[in-house]
Amino acid sequence: MSDTPIRSKDNFLIFGSPAIEEAEIQEVASSMRSGWLGTGPKVAQFERDFAAYKRVQNAVAVNSGTAALHLSLLAAGLNPGEEVITTALTFCATINAIIHAGAKPVLVDVEPETMNIDPAQVEARITSRTRAILPVHFAGRPCNMDELCRIAEQNNLMIIEDCAHAIEAEYKGQKVGTFGDFGCFSFYVTKNIVTGEGGMVLARHEEDSARIKMLALHGMSKDAWKRFSDEGYKHYYVVECGFKYNMMDIQAAIGIHQLQRVEKNWQRRQRIWQTYNEAFSALPISRPNDPENATRHAYHLYTILVDKQKTGMNRDEFLDAMTAQNIGVGVHYLSVPEHPYYQKTFGWKPHDYPNAMTIGRQTVSLPLSAKLTEDDVLDVIRSAKRIFMSS
Ligand SMILES: Cc1ncc(COP(=O)(O)O)c(C=O)c1O
Repeated sequence: MSDTPIRSKDNFLIFGSPAIEEAEIQEVASSMRSGWLGTGPKVAQFERDFAAYKRVQNAVAVNSGTAALHLSLLAAGLNPGEEVITTALTFCATINAIIHAGAKPVLVDVEPETMNIDPAQVEARITSRTRAILPVHFAGRPCNMDELCRIAEQNNLMIIEDCAHAIEAEYKGQKVGTFGDFGCFSFYVTKNIVTGEGGMVLARHEEDSARIKMLALHGMSKDAWKRFSDEGYKHYYVVECGFKYNMMDIQAAIGIHQLQRVEKNWQRRQRIWQTYNEAFSALPISRPNDPENATRHAYHLYTILVDKQKTGMNRDEFLDAMTAQNIGVGVHYLSVPEHPYYQKTFGWKPHDYPNAMTIGRQTVSLPLSAKLTEDDVLDVIRSAKRIFMSS
């Protein structure tokens, strides 16, 4: 293999670097000039715009996807020790939010083809203590919502959707995040819409939406954010022990413009996805499956599987080789039971969730940001081909 990397070190391709345009830069500057940096009119606008995009009545902005999950689980009213069934292949925030809400996470394995929670195994893990199912639309691919909704209905369970990867995803024409009692979104820097840090909750019931809004701001009574407005000082009352989870106007200023370009960016990522699929067809790696019929994939992550038996190198060697070509790559994710905290606390073992374990040990996410130029995409392809063809 040639010693000269495909890209130079000072041109390192940062994984997940977001596409930021002048409109959001100007909007942030206008927030700063206005003096209203905290939760204010831009947050209210971003909530309205996001609700309209999702074709729902209410959306509540918060300062992370983790906060969105935590508050949804609290609003779900789980009692200590009650169980929430979720996937063994997700980011730790999904699991931690369940624990912080006082409930017990129960893991099930994923389907190897979709990398999403396996509905049949969900059904098998239901006990008298189960209260909710928390599916993750992994990499942007919608879960099997027909089955999950059927299981939830038959067993009187709530559904809390983790849509951190799946802003644009649809299942049979319905937008994800609107199937369950709660839909939770993340606007972290690598996500399909970014606000730096940020999140959003769609709650099916108006009263849950109102409660989440209140819990996100210390548990202060309605409209406490107006207390320093030009309408004069407003008293507020603390009605619950809440959190400091509110989104700032500076964050919403970014989000408002990101949301306006969400479909354009989706199209760009879809093209990159297809280009990768064609370019890698002859390589000895697994590429992501095509989207299922009647679904819309959000194209958040392009994940390949590197199996040493087929490629002659293991996943971590490939990660290092891509880094040496100055291409940033990611891992989404080591399966949840690989982490010592969960092993110690719940006794989970990776081999008990074999599909999530295998994916977690073989998966690599290649750059898929809408910011990528044609040359960037070619560099990723040339690097991967160079590495696999010389191994
Ligand atoms: C599947 C999943 N759930 C939850 C989160 C948490 O979102 P955030 O980083 O905005 O707190 C993330 C994002 O990082 C995620 O990928």
